[in-house]
Amino acid sequence: MPDLERADSASTVNVAGKERYFTRFTAAQRYMHGVLFSSFLGLAATGLPMRFSQSFWARKFASGVGGFGAIIFFHKLCALVLTVAFLIHLKDIFTRGILNREKGIFWGPNSMVANWKDVKDLVGHMRWFVGLGKRPTFGRYAYWEKFDYWAVFWGMLIIGFSGYAMWFAPFFARFLPGWALNAVLVVHSEEGLLAILFIFSIHFVNTHLRPDTFPMDMVIFTGVESEEEFKHKRPEEFAALAKQGKLEARLGAAPATWWINFARVIGFTAILIGLTLLVLTLSAYFS
Ligand code: HEM
Repeated sequence: MPDLERADSASTVNVAGKERYFTRFTAAQRYMHGVLFSSFLGLAATGLPMRFSQSFWARKFASGVGGFGAIIFFHKLCALVLTVAFLIHLKDIFTRGILNREKGIFWGPNSMVANWKDVKDLVGHMRWFVGLGKRPTFGRYAYWEKFDYWAVFWGMLIIGFSGYAMWFAPFFARFLPGWALNAVLVVHSEEGLLAILFIFSIHFVNTHLRPDTFPMDMVIFTGVESEEEFKHKRPEEFAALAKQGKLEARLGAAPATWWINFARVIGFTAILIGLTLLVLTLSAYFS
């Protein structure tokens, strides 16, 4: 029997006929995403008025919050929060992957590192989009989720380094040539813009606005997804867990209604802010 069918029959253990929920993200991962998206929104909302300081909305915003000095202050505050979150993430990978030698962090079906299957899935997905083949099936992380992760990871290094070089320019001037300090402004500004455009368009569409998840994927807030969702979105991971007899260990509690509603408000507010910033960026860029 193919793995997927076996997984389907293994999943008939329904608790009193109720829908089962499976854990996808731990509480720590969800908090980390919360800190990441709120500090990123803060950085975007304060970085854009600096970048497009001549536009009417940037000047209105600046005068509303106490001038460009205040905007720079909040930008640096959000940068510190994001830096701490990034360092905690690095420490977590180091502890799990290097010190504890946890299997599957750097390679395998549950790793964020891209592998040959991701290339095949990407090609298969493109073929499916144009009606030339079957829809590929995905495991724990699909190729676009890995792409989003690495885009943020490398972007963080580039934006972070250039940001601190501007912030502590006299210190960096001790070992960087003068032209490099001018270059970091360009790098920071362009990479910041790229990150904003990427997150508020591609990441939003990939994670929340595609037909599978529209209007919002709640799993990053609740940490759990229903069995139906799990099987539909990540049939390979579901099948692998069923085969290894590890499905039950991933069972989680159904999310409380008040928490789903609260998360919806937070999520929609974040999406609304992001889309507003995207429209302002595009209008300022092309005017
Ligand atoms: C560790 C992270 C970061 C640090 C340390 C940092 C720091 C800075 C500093 C010091 C400035 C110059 C402020 C001034 O003019 O005095 C700046 C500008 C800016 N930042 Fe960041 N930043 C960080 C992350 C980000 C991120 C994630 C974004 C995008 C979402 C971003 C977008 C911008 C933009 C667009 C500008 C204006 C550049 C221009 O004037 O053309 N920054 N940042």
